[in-house]
Amino acid sequence: MRAVDVIVKKRDGQELSKEEIDFFIGGFTRGEISDYQASAWAMAVLFQGMTPRETMDLTNALIESGERLDLTGVVPIAVDKHSTGGVGDKTTLVVQPIVAACNIPMGKMSGKALAFTGGTLDKLQSISGYRIDLSTQEFIDQLKKIGLVLTGQTLNLAPADGALYSLRDVTGTVKAVPLIASSIMSKKLAAGAQAIVLDVKVGLGAFMQEILEAVELAKLMVDIGYIAGKRVVALISDMNQPLGYAVGNALEVKEALETLKGEGPVDFKEHCLEIAGHLLILAGRAKELEEGKKLSLEVLENGTAFEKFRQLVQAQGGDVNLVDDPSKLPMASIIETISSPLKGYLKEIHAREIGLSAMELGAGREKKGDAVDYAVGIVLKHKVGDWVDEGEALFEVHANHRDRCGGAVERVLAAHSFSKSKISPLPRFYQTVIHAHEEKKR
Ligand code: URA
Repeated sequence: MRAVDVIVKKRDGQELSKEEIDFFIGGFTRGEISDYQASAWAMAVLFQGMTPRETMDLTNALIESGERLDLTGVVPIAVDKHSTGGVGDKTTLVVQPIVAACNIPMGKMSGKALAFTGGTLDKLQSISGYRIDLSTQEFIDQLKKIGLVLTGQTLNLAPADGALYSLRDVTGTVKAVPLIASSIMSKKLAAGAQAIVLDVKVGLGAFMQEILEAVELAKLMVDIGYIAGKRVVALISDMNQPLGYAVGNALEVKEALETLKGEGPVDFKEHCLEIAGHLLILAGRAKELEEGKKLSLEVLENGTAFEKFRQLVQAQGGDVNLVDDPSKLPMASIIETISSPLKGYLKEIHAREIGLSAMELGAGREKKGDAVDYAVGIVLKHKVGDWVDEGEALFEVHANHRDRCGGAVERVLAAHSFSKSKISPLPRFYQTVIHAHEEKKR
């Protein structure tokens, strides 16, 4: 078999066999198939697509490229969640403690910021001392001891996905639905997940702009999960405007802490309750969504979820003083409040533009390995649909460099648009995608 023949076959729109996919991904993992051939193949997949069977075989080939974590015997059921990436998305910081506080242990490996979207690990690292490099044994020991772990990926999970993703990132091939589905599911399955809630973002601040595209991706991932024998639910959620108000690492930790205390922005809190509610159903702790949400709200309001987060930070070497007193989290030297130049109903707060502004202030990375400034970011004051008066506070810019401030102010101002007529608030969720088999269990 030759790599070029596999590329040509896909370029010409034919279905690849399992042997061809294994050959290609195996060869790429071993360095026998070059980056330029893998890039050409990814472009062929982008244009020609893949059948569900091919996507499943690709997922398995990516899993086989590395190690697997087996959590059977460690927890009754290994639950996990995954977000396809958004702006202001600090959901894991709240959902994981909620689930653990409901006595469902949850160990999770998270990622760093990607493009304009934030990364959970960067947010956590704004808590000084917090370790994101736990060994597999430390992961398992902590999961058994306190019922939650939130760390980086130290095991060599689906390494072919990492290598392929780097190529896709620079060859315009991230957007291929079968490649995204296999990329996400290979990492979740290799990490030992048995029940997964997928938060598929759609809108201006997401990789997917159209609901139909997001549903296609969600269905594919749910099917992959079903074929792999896992319980999977995908929620299509709005990412036209940022989630909550805060965008930037320490600012988002602060907002997550407020939410863990039963306060925080309404949209973000509701989002977390919905995701946690579904996780509790998959874990067998709740029978239906309303019950799952009710249990989740209880642990937010009675302080046990907050206590779980505190335990997590302590167990992973973080400074709990910052959890108890968030004013001690990294804070920017310049905080500018910008007033609204107009009055009207907010029609749009362009999430991608807000994400890019935070990134330019230093909250994200231009390229891999860049340092992150934990203190900087944007704090919005309104949501789409709100009435805003001229001169009323519209947002805050948190910066550590005066020369970066002006650009961010302009960009965030331009990201807001107004209407004279009433605008409805944006929906939080558009659709839930469940496999028919999973639906029958409910
Ligand atoms: N997130 C992933 O993990 N992989 C993709 O391909 C896209 C988003």
